[in-house]
Amino acid sequence: MTYTPSPERYNTMEYRRCGNSGVKLSAMSLGLWHNFGHVNNFENSRNLVKTAFDHGITHFDLANNYGPPPGSAEENFGKILFQDLRSYRDELIISTKAGYTMWDGPYGDWGSKKYLVSSLDQSLKRLKLEYVDIFYHHRPDHNTPLEETMAALDLIVRQGKALYVGISNYRPAEAEKAFRILKDLGTPCLIHQPKYSMFERWVEGGLLDLLEKEGVGCIPFSPLAQGLLTDKYLHGIPADSRVATSGVFLKEDHITPERIEKIKALNQIAEQRGQKLAHMALSWILKDKRVTTVLIGASKPDQITDSLQALKNTNFSTDELAAIDRILA
Ligand SMILES: NC(=O)c1ccc[n+]([C@@H]2O[C@H](COP(=O)([O-])OP(=O)(O)OC[C@H]3O[C@@H](n4cnc5c(N)ncnc54)[C@H](OP(=O)(O)O)[C@@H]3O)[C@@H](O)[C@H]2O)c1
Repeated sequence: MTYTPSPERYNTMEYRRCGNSGVKLSAMSLGLWHNFGHVNNFENSRNLVKTAFDHGITHFDLANNYGPPPGSAEENFGKILFQDLRSYRDELIISTKAGYTMWDGPYGDWGSKKYLVSSLDQSLKRLKLEYVDIFYHHRPDHNTPLEETMAALDLIVRQGKALYVGISNYRPAEAEKAFRILKDLGTPCLIHQPKYSMFERWVEGGLLDLLEKEGVGCIPFSPLAQGLLTDKYLHGIPADSRVATSGVFLKEDHITPERIEKIKALNQIAEQRGQKLAHMALSWILKDKRVTTVLIGASKPDQITDSLQALKNTNFSTDELAAIDRILA
């Protein structure tokens, strides 16, 4: 059936400027790490994308290795774009990355120019696109000169295969060097993608300050700690949860009694705020104006509409913040 996006889609979403650039991103973005592989139900993946777009989410985040199998999330997203969103390409910001193992041999991993350029060529074929909006180096590579990796990003932009570039998982010192090299090359870094949630706060130790100083946007990933920062694991492991269905990156042994105690206490604060824990976890990230957009995942379309409730209240009192800090300490 032909898909017609909701005409209301731009009415309620907030759009935040990405660093000092000219581009704005929806305050919430959808990531395709899980639930978009060939192992997943294609109609569900398609409904996830349509639900997101219908609610004003314009940014979709991929990587060469998302699946499983690796590459299949890009293939499936390419199919969805072709079937449903072909006429809306100019309303979308599509990103992909390279940096983790993708193919055999010495050229299918890390940060060489050889790997990044060939990987993006492969991604564009899978996505059936001429260019992506953002191309990232997915993780730092200490065995390749940073100058080479950044020159690859610059080259890709000059070739017209990406409009902007970003880096992911870089710590402040290496990020600062990367920003300087990119600026000198004439391709400023648009955005940094770090892991950031109530359970993972390393970005507060210098990275957010650096991004503000350098005018680089920030897109925190796994803001719900892959689902831990919701009420779903409070009474065991639901059969349709990431722990039960995938169990690779989020495992049963991550759900320790200490963690459950913290989740229960956070859940109480969320209730006092009139939110669910999932909403509070996302609002807590978005309270910081240095954050451009929060990068969520979802296994069901109604999780997207549920998570969007977070946008209704991103203000926290100092008492609430102190109570949250005490729980997380
Ligand atoms: N740059 C990197 O190195 C890197 C690494 C990891 C991820 N990422 C990016 O970040 C994106 C998001 O990561 P993530 O999937 O770990 O994010 P997340 O938002 O922390 O976790 C998403 C999972 O939480 C559960 N969930 C989502 N909304 C919910 C709700 N409202 N109520 C209850 N449960 C909910 C779902 O899991 P269930 O299956 O349990 O329903 C969902 O798949 C990825 O898709 C990817 O684009 C980047």
